[in-house]
Amino acid sequence: MSRAERKWDHIRFALETGQKRATAFDDIQFIHQSLPNINVSDVRLHQKIGELSLSSPIFINAMTGGGGEKTYTLNKQLAQVASAAGLAMAVGSQMSALKDKSERYTYEVVRKENPSGILIANLGSEASPEHARIAVEMIGANALQVHLNVIQELTMPEGDREFSNALNRIEAIVKGVSVPVIVKEVGFGMSKETAEILSSVGVSAIDIGGFGGTNFAEIENKRSDKSNFFFNQWGIPTAISICEASYASSVPIIGSGGFTTSIDMAKGLALGASAAGFAGYFLKILIDEGIDSLHAEISSLHHELKMIMTALGAISIQDLQKAPLMVSGQTHHWLTQRGIDTKVYSQRSIK
Ligand code: FNR
Repeated sequence: MSRAERKWDHIRFALETGQKRATAFDDIQFIHQSLPNINVSDVRLHQKIGELSLSSPIFINAMTGGGGEKTYTLNKQLAQVASAAGLAMAVGSQMSALKDKSERYTYEVVRKENPSGILIANLGSEASPEHARIAVEMIGANALQVHLNVIQELTMPEGDREFSNALNRIEAIVKGVSVPVIVKEVGFGMSKETAEILSSVGVSAIDIGGFGGTNFAEIENKRSDKSNFFFNQWGIPTAISICEASYASSVPIIGSGGFTTSIDMAKGLALGASAAGFAGYFLKILIDEGIDSLHAEISSLHHELKMIMTALGAISIQDLQKAPLMVSGQTHHWLTQRGIDTKVYSQRSIK
């Protein structure tokens, strides 16, 4: 199977398998405040992640490119949406364009469509600093994502089986590029151990890419006859992973994995994420309903987030990160067993 065919398979099966809502956000509840003492018009959504200034905490996470015309069109449309809504956007892994220059245009289109927006390049941890510099230059990127996808590789019959020295390579990339480096998972979440190690090698941010949304074990199992079903339920749910990573990391945490609603996004930000990445959900709206529906959905997410923040008395994302909330059920059990005291969330306040 060609690389381009595989890219299209991923998109097809991602849409088919969908978002599972196993993110653990149902275990998180905001504490209602009857006197928020602010107006909807007071709420501001802009956010800073290290050197990156974002006008919204929502961003379009890495998905595509490198699969010829179909992925060119998707990246073009995603970049148009990102430009109109002022969202940052990551492209899918650019390794295919490093191996085959004729695929470069499927990525370069995002900068053409969004000349002054925040764009994020993407490569796997097998990349060298030279690969990273080419990927950044290809789209005039403001940051680089390095993805970790061990479970996806292990599930694929043709996937990698060698994972040693990834941390050294990440460190070399951090030193070798001029833009901030974000290390991300692809839907299996990051533990506090991983977050602690990553923040010690100079990465600028960690995107926990949690479990509960797009599931690459399920996608790869659907693509092949030899199935590793034991990985279908493997991973750290997004809400839990945000808590684990923000507990252990000294760099900003980005939340992603299974976001489909404003309330889950608000909970993710309140648990400690500085931004919220949407991938499969946005792709499904774009492919099934078209670009106008995706514009409309992003407007509603912004509007609803402002309403939720008003109810909590949060005029900024920094305020939202101090809103008291209750952690219950399996998530409370998990965090307690992992030595993370959930009273940190339930006994704090914005004022
Ligand atoms: C992805 N994702 C991804 N991530 C990455 O770092 N490089 C990549 O090339 C891709 N490719 C890709 C293709 C498709 C079709 C999808 C749906 C996703 C993973 C993505 O960025 C995100 O981490 C996960 O999808 C989890 O988020 P959602 O989809 O649950 O919002």
